[in-house]
Parts: sequence; structure tokens; C-alpha cells
Amino acid sequence: MSAALSSPHPAFAPMPGPANAQAVLSPLYQRVSRVIPPIEWPAFADDIDAILRLKRERNAVILAHNYMTPEIFHCVSDIVGDSLALAREAQTVQADIIVMAGVHFMAETAKMLNPDKTVLIPDLRAGCSLASSITAEDVRLMRQRYPSRPVVTYVNTSAAVKAESDICCTSGNARKIVESLGVPEVIMIPDQYLAANVARETGVKIISWAGACEVHERFTARQIRSLRAENPGVIVLAHPECPTDVVDEADFAGSTAAMSDYVTAKQPSRVVLITECSMADNIAVNHPDVDFVRPCNLCPHMKRITLPAIRAALETNTHAVTIDPAIAARARAAVERMLAI
Ligand code: 13P
Ligand code: SF4
Repeated sequence: MSAALSSPHPAFAPMPGPANAQAVLSPLYQRVSRVIPPIEWPAFADDIDAILRLKRERNAVILAHNYMTPEIFHCVSDIVGDSLALAREAQTVQADIIVMAGVHFMAETAKMLNPDKTVLIPDLRAGCSLASSITAEDVRLMRQRYPSRPVVTYVNTSAAVKAESDICCTSGNARKIVESLGVPEVIMIPDQYLAANVARETGVKIISWAGACEVHERFTARQIRSLRAENPGVIVLAHPECPTDVVDEADFAGSTAAMSDYVTAKQPSRVVLITECSMADNIAVNHPDVDFVRPCNLCPHMKRITLPAIRAALETNTHAVTIDPAIAARARAAVERMLAI
């Protein structure tokens, strides 16, 4: 799922003011009515109305990751997608302000790729267990210990860690990036499971780091077998941040965008997404004929981003992302090498 949503959204041709907000927002509710109960909608409508107005007044766009809740993903976002799509799209944003409805490393990546823009992260606590698992000093020590191996760094890292790297990757291009290096051995940080999954796919020897995604490492192979037993015929799609034995149990493994594309292309009658909770809701909106089985592992960092937080970000210009220029230049080089492949 990596799409620029038409702007303005067709449901919002006239910009809503307080008086007509309810009427104008109502077509939008129809869009998410499969996943948001009517009783919950009034709690969202006022913030949605305000955010749409603020975006126009402040010349801002909202980039939203696939793990955002549906009222953010479908009702206020301009561009949605996986980490790779958000990085690509951030490069060409013309608006003055980018609000990142995602986690901090995504906002940092947007800032390094489009440094003249104000990039806002609505809640500074929106981190990532992978990003916090490794420091720039750790990478320097790994280089000393394993000299002459290229360092491939997952985008789920700080700018300082990216700056110590040769090239970045996302879950959507990790295999391609590793293969493009044409060497028998690489350092790939910080996700031990992504590294193990890529090593198996490519045959390249990978020296990894002991980081893990706190959402995906909780899935187990046994859980997948139970899901299959309880839901005969279910198609299992897993994110490559899952342990290898979980990926082995799946019918397909890929980035959040690749999972979404799989559902669109194959239209399975029943599917389970072995990833963060909100993904299924967001895809279900566009696939009324697909039955989604929904185990729910929430990412506590992604869930820091709420409509009130986005509204406050636009009202108060917080929290503007800054990166030390010396770090930004080196980190950008690693991200741009990835985007060039
Ligand atoms: P994607 O790049 O596949 O969207 O993954 C980002 C992420 O944080 C997964 O946990
Ligand atoms: Fe990080 Fe995992 Fe949350 Fe993605 S889902 S932001 S990898 S903790």
C-alpha cells in the first residue's frame, strides 16, 4: 500500500467549517464504516475537521504509515505507505510542513531527504524497539571487529546509526540491497530476524545484531499453526521482522506494502496478516469480500500518534525534527544509495 491519496479528498471538495462539519464528514464516515463503529465516530469528527482545516491553512501534508489507525490512515492522510514509500514520497513533498504519522525514525528520514521542510512528529515518544537497540558507537565497534564488510542498516534506526552505514534498506528492498552489493558477507543491523530471513533468501552470510521488533517477535510458529487449524483455508502473510520459523509457516512474507498488494492482487477469501494490528483494518476498508482473521499485536510507539496529537502538532508546530548537519549529510548518503537501487 503506497499511494498518494488524491488531494483534496473527493469527500472534502468544500473545506469543512464548524457549521457544516458533520455534513461534510459524513461521506468520509461511509468510507471507514466497516472498521469504525458509528458510536465511535463523533469522538473523531471534530479533530478530523480541525486537521483538514489546519492542513490547508498551514500548507501541510500528512504522511501516514500503514500501521496508523483507520481514522488517521483513511480520513486525514495525504500519502500512505510502508517505510520505503514514505521515504520516497518525502523527497518530493512541495508543502511547507510534513507531519509524520508514524514513528520517529520515519520523521528523521523525511527530514534528511527534504531538509528545507518543517517535519513534525506529533509525539516524541513514538520510538521503535529496533531503533533503540543500537547506537552509532555500536556500529563503529562492529566495523572494527568485522573489517571490510559493508554495513547494511535497516531504516528503523536513528540518523546517527545511519550515518555510520554504507547503505540503508527497508523490509521492502532488503533482499535487493544485499544482492546488489555482490559480496559474500555483510553486516546487517539491527534486526536479527530480518537479517536471518534475508540470509536464507540470498545465501549471503550475514553478521547481525541482537535487535528485534517487539511486535513481530511475539508471533510464534505454534500460533500460526493454531490459526490455520481454527480457520481452514486461511492465507497467512507475515512481515519479515518475524522469526524465521514464523515466516516458514506463512504463505508469503513481505513488507507492509507487499502484504497489502498481495491482498489486492489475489483477493483471498480469508487472510491473516502477521503484523501490527491496524494493518488489517486499513486494508479491510478496500476489500469488503475478504475475511480478515485478526490476531492483535499493537505497536505501542505507532499508537502514540492519535488525531488529537496530530491536531496539536499542527496547532503548535511541535515537535519539529532537527538533525545535526554533519550526521544528516552522512545518513542521507546511506539512504540515497538505497533509493538509487
Ligand atoms: P514496513 O517498511 O514494512 O512498513 O515496516 C515498518 C515497520 O516498522 C514494521 O514494523
Ligand atoms: Fe518498530 Fe516494531 Fe513498532 Fe515497527 S512495529 S515501529 S519495527 S517496534
